[in-house]
Amino acid sequence: MTNGASDGKKDVICCCSGTTVAQIKRYVDRGIDDLERISQASGACSGCGGCEADILELLAEYKSRTEAATR
Ligand code: FES
Repeated sequence: MTNGASDGKKDVICCCSGTTVAQIKRYVDRGIDDLERISQASGACSGCGGCEADILELLAEYKSRTEAATR
């Protein structure tokens, strides 16, 4: 995965919808933290589905990072 390690604001994680890593992180920060709801909100993973694994990896990594920061 190329996007999870980057905090670049324009890193597109879903080419079909143009959804970026930063957008997904903002959804998670607002409590929208599962693939289905992120897909509904952003359109990510509603086209070819090729981004699903990357988004799931990003979600797992970002959620574990934010949980560790709040401990
Ligand atoms: S790249 Fe995300 S649905 Fe195609």
